[in-house]
Amino acid sequence: MEAEESLAKLLRMAGYSEKAIDYYLRKVNVGVLEGAESPGLYTGLCGDSMQIFLKVEDGIIKDARFQAIGCAGAFASGSAITEMVKGKSLEEAWKITEQDVVRELGGLPKPKLHCARLAVDALKKSLEKFKVKG
Ligand code: FES
Repeated sequence: MEAEESLAKLLRMAGYSEKAIDYYLRKVNVGVLEGAESPGLYTGLCGDSMQIFLKVEDGIIKDARFQAIGCAGAFASGSAITEMVKGKSLEEAWKITEQDVVRELGGLPKPKLHCARLAVDALKKSLEKFKVKG
């Protein structure tokens, strides 16, 4: 608990929002979704990677999880985007932007804004499995 509090303090000092810190520490939606579609690990420009699993019924995303090799910004963004897609149609999910993810998190530190891009691009890779394209 003490380690968690000092990590939260560090993240706060780095400019992470309370929501991003909460998602990161609770590892919201981190994990594999058995039986779900996934395109495998997507690697972004920064070299970090994310894999998003989607469970879809009748064109609606019923559940979503992710795994990542990356920073706190990547994990917070992965948690946010997997929360955001639940209950959305595949087409609605395709329209989610980096700005939407950053807004959902209540902001990200400026040098970490691109981490939201990793989550959006990983989501698009997953959606392509369902033949959804912009
Ligand atoms: Fe690569 Fe954050 S630095 S996702």
